[in-house]
Amino acid sequence: MKEIKPRLKLAIQKKGRLTDKSLQLIRDAGIGIEDSNERLMISAKNFPIDILFLRDDDIPEYVQDGVADIGIVGYNVVFEQNSEVSVIKKLGYGKCKLMIAVPENEEVIEIKNLAGSRIATSYPNILNYFLEKNSITATAILIKGSVEIAPSLGIADYICDIVSTGNTLKMNKLKKSFEVFDSEAVLIKSELFPLNTEKEQLLTQLITRIDSVMIAQNSNYLMMNAPKKNLEEIITILPSLKSPTLLPLADENMIAIHAVIAKDIFWQINGKLQNLGASDLLLLPINNMIV
Ligand code: PRP
Ligand code: ZN
Repeated sequence: MKEIKPRLKLAIQKKGRLTDKSLQLIRDAGIGIEDSNERLMISAKNFPIDILFLRDDDIPEYVQDGVADIGIVGYNVVFEQNSEVSVIKKLGYGKCKLMIAVPENEEVIEIKNLAGSRIATSYPNILNYFLEKNSITATAILIKGSVEIAPSLGIADYICDIVSTGNTLKMNKLKKSFEVFDSEAVLIKSELFPLNTEKEQLLTQLITRIDSVMIAQNSNYLMMNAPKKNLEEIITILPSLKSPTLLPLADENMIAIHAVIAKDIFWQINGKLQNLGASDLLLLPINNMIV
């Protein structure tokens, strides 16, 4: 009988803020997938992984129950549902805040102004936790979708919802007031159904690839030529992830220095490097990097 090779099942959001970025991460990790075209599941050709498309709110439970092996979902959803899943890793995208928002023309300056109000939200647990922490008595009104229209319908005074760009609030004539919870996309697995050894090995491979994408996204490859006499000083101001690479040049008073640096650092050190005689600075993107 032919042995069936195990495949990892990864659940991601079917349609929403995290969908495109999650697919991009999978592709950047070298996993070949086609467009979903409204399908509920797609299979990668060059890595044993199947992608399941689910409503984000359903992902923690599917993973908890072992229907999907792992999932990518907002930490806000994981925390709200308190499912038996653990966070394997924060993914650095889909950053957003759960916030209390109020009608544009209202002044709600202090948290205590929320007392006695009705607040519409899909996150009653997180909201209640916030209210309790601040010793405020207010009513959380559970609304599953389109929370933003609750105040204009008169169902609630305020809302507590995810704000990313802030466009949804603006369109609904609401403004931010208080921050309740910080969130980003996370990779989760079940605490109730541990993966078998083969799937655990696949997961380790996947995580290595994701790490490599994430490090690469935050790094650049810097190349420059510099006077040999200033080499030591240049190396001390290069916050390199690894020891820099040194290459001889035809001019023996000069040397080429290559280093991987954090993306945001270049504009802080570029002047100093030039003062030390560095020239021909080249900053290149990195696709993948395994440290
Ligand atoms: C959230 C929220 C808003 C939107 C806010 O939805 O409910 O609809 O994001 O983003 P913006 O500030 O960029 O306009 P989310 O994608 O978390 O999932 P949901 O549709 O399941 O609520
Ligand atoms: Zn949702």
